[in-house]
Amino acid sequence: MLIRSAEFVISNSDVRKCPAPTLPEFAFIGRSNVGKSSLINALANQKSLAKTSGKPGKTQLINHFLINKKWYLVDLPGYGYAKTSKSKRKKWEAFIEEYLLTRENLYTTFILLDSRLEPQKIDLEFMSWCGENQLPFSMVFTKTDKLSNVELQKNLAAYKREMLKYWEEMPPMFTTSSVSGQGREELLNYIQELIDTV
Ligand code: GTP
Ligand code: MG
Repeated sequence: MLIRSAEFVISNSDVRKCPAPTLPEFAFIGRSNVGKSSLINALANQKSLAKTSGKPGKTQLINHFLINKKWYLVDLPGYGYAKTSKSKRKKWEAFIEEYLLTRENLYTTFILLDSRLEPQKIDLEFMSWCGENQLPFSMVFTKTDKLSNVELQKNLAAYKREMLKYWEEMPPMFTTSSVSGQGREELLNYIQELIDTV
């Protein structure tokens, strides 16, 4: 898919203030610092459309980006960032949960996972929660430029083993790097496919 335009639309913590739910929408979620905002920039072919940071906890709101004037990429705050105060975390969780459960034009959610890590409890729990709520999702492994292919395959296999303890089949899986551009075309093609078929 060719990206002809990418523009920031709005940030907010109120689901009702999100853009009218008239266009297909794709959300990016995952642990703080996993690379959500960076991947959105890589997909959109822009350096600083979404704000990124070396420190976790950068994205704190629901951010809508309009792509090709036809669909939205949505950058969400990360979960599992220990330094956020408990009350603030609860508030985030509530609005993210409300967003995921009620957003009627949300085609799918991309759950980002650090490809360098073994399966993490918090991510497995989040995927279970999506399953319980019948929310479709894909697993998107990030930062593949930081490890060898052998290590990557080992970590992917560990994730598959862990997932297949609870799931009958695997969701779609993508391996990506915002630095090398790995997985960019595959993700964009997948988005295009969903837009064309849903
Ligand atoms: P929060 O908004 O805090 O939840 O984080 P985020 O998931 O949006 O992460 P962000 O995109 O801000 O990236 C976090 C850090 O990881 C930054 O220092 C990025 O430069 C780095 N990073 C993100 N993606 C990649 C990648 O594919 N490869 C490498 N080497 N670094 C990456
Ligand atoms: Mg971010």
